[in-house]
Amino acid sequence: MNNVRNLLKKSGYSEKAIEYYLKRVNFGIIKNPSCYGIYTGPCGDTMEIYLRIKDTLILDAKFRAIGCAGSFVSGSALTEMIKKKTIDEAEGINREDVIAHLGGIPEAKIHCACLAIRTLRRAIKQYKNE
Ligand code: FES
Repeated sequence: MNNVRNLLKKSGYSEKAIEYYLKRVNFGIIKNPSCYGIYTGPCGDTMEIYLRIKDTLILDAKFRAIGCAGSFVSGSALTEMIKKKTIDEAEGINREDVIAHLGGIPEAKIHCACLAIRTLRRAIKQYKNE
């Protein structure tokens, strides 16, 4: 694991991002979620986001990804950020917010934060349309 930590550090991931990656924070699924989003980015990587919502409040959020370390840390960060937020607040979170929450990710991985944002917006759209 130390080698992975060092590799991530050398690549430009912050300590917080490295912790998220190693601990797989919020990785997994929610059974019978209130809504679900799936999105494949231009890079070919795919993310899924599952939300449990009561009224307009997000009680739980999980994600799965077939993708790079950038997608994993972005998925962890975003799902952490939206817990206990309203769906409108969650919808307002943008790429810069995710990167700021992480304390930085490598320049080449900034689009990976977009993958998480777009996946979340799909999930929220599904919820709003139901
Ligand atoms: Fe595709 Fe990171 S390279 S999400």
